[in-house]
Amino acid sequence: MQTASFSEQLSPIEWGPLLDTSFETQLSRFTNRKIAILVDENTHNHCLEFLITGFDALAEAEVIMLPAGEENKVLEVCFQVWETLTEAGFGRQDLLINLGGGMVTDLGGFVASVYKRGLAFINIPTSLLAMVDAAVGGKTGIDFEGLKNQIGTFAAAQATYIDTGFLQTLPSEEWANGFAELLKNALISDVQLWQDLSKIQDIQKELRFETIQQGVQIKAEIVAKDPSENGLRKILNFGHTIGHALESYYLNTDTPLAHGHAVAIGLLLESKLSVGQSSLTQAEFLSIETRIKSLYTLQIPNDIEGLWALMQHDKKNDNGEVRSCLLTAIGSCIFDQKLVYADLQAALAIYHQ
Ligand SMILES: NC(=O)c1ccc[n+]([C@@H]2O[C@H](COP(=O)([O-])OP(=O)(O)OC[C@H]3O[C@@H](n4cnc5c(N)ncnc54)[C@H](O)[C@@H]3O)[C@@H](O)[C@H]2O)c1
Ligand SMILES: [Zn+2]
Repeated sequence: MQTASFSEQLSPIEWGPLLDTSFETQLSRFTNRKIAILVDENTHNHCLEFLITGFDALAEAEVIMLPAGEENKVLEVCFQVWETLTEAGFGRQDLLINLGGGMVTDLGGFVASVYKRGLAFINIPTSLLAMVDAAVGGKTGIDFEGLKNQIGTFAAAQATYIDTGFLQTLPSEEWANGFAELLKNALISDVQLWQDLSKIQDIQKELRFETIQQGVQIKAEIVAKDPSENGLRKILNFGHTIGHALESYYLNTDTPLAHGHAVAIGLLLESKLSVGQSSLTQAEFLSIETRIKSLYTLQIPNDIEGLWALMQHDKKNDNGEVRSCLLTAIGSCIFDQKLVYADLQAALAIYHQ
């Protein structure tokens, strides 16, 4: 028997109010099967009721609630979910619905992908970041020993349903976090989108549905060309070599840095590197700097060695060398670029004078 490869299994993305999508039909495939809904404390309070009251098939669903926050995207929390699924007798024909931000979709996707070698799951992202990035593209994962996404799988959801109605209760700082991934998508591949995003002052009020859709489209197209990240898909990691190191650096401190915020700072620092090492112009860099500084505080430690040590664990590295993405211009990105310690030192120096 032939098995389909990951690339043939990329999950469909559907937009619009959940009630108008194929979600209900999708659920009907699981009639007489068990269904669990994974939430965190906040999506439990703000998003769950809509699902349970809106869809008869979910009235009796098993609700599994996680503590909110990146510090809970860890193995110990997975154990609890596996325990609940096991105790409730979930089998491979049953379904897990991930209703939440990227923490829930990453952890839920991972939990499902290895439970009995693969439980079907559906993603319903409820944060801007999960809509434009985390819930799309089939990467799942958890943090391990303080390192971001150290353990994970490529696993396709049955489908991802993007209903921007869920954003009504999203706190404003989370809008800024999701906006960082949109900025990244524009910087790596769409100068027009960058110009549109540069005009936005109040993200929550001015970000248009079509712009969110455009951002997702960019990611979906790149993933479709290289689902398993052998080449082109690496550009989606622009800003993340330094961004992930910053996020890990502050993970278990009193001043944790959200993923999107860390990525925003990473975009700035990796753009700075792109001026010296690639062909990004100083004028382009300044427009990036202005945009990032207008939205995000630059929380950057003076501990270059600490950050460098974390960058040694980046998944894009090759042969012990740190590899990063660089911009050749706004809207154009190259990958597999070697970074050395002095580069990081130089990029950080301008923010530590
Ligand atoms: N798999 C991927 O390809 C991929 C891509 C990008 C990011 N990620 C991961 O995604 C995570 C970040 O995602 P995130 O920013 O969504 O984090 P998150 O899931 O922690 O959500 C941020 C906060 O918003 C709350 N929230 C979510 N939806 C809400 C709603 N509708 N109303 C009120 N509160 C709501 C959450 O409870 C949480 O407190 C990181 O772990 C990152 O590594 C994964
Ligand atoms: Zn990211």
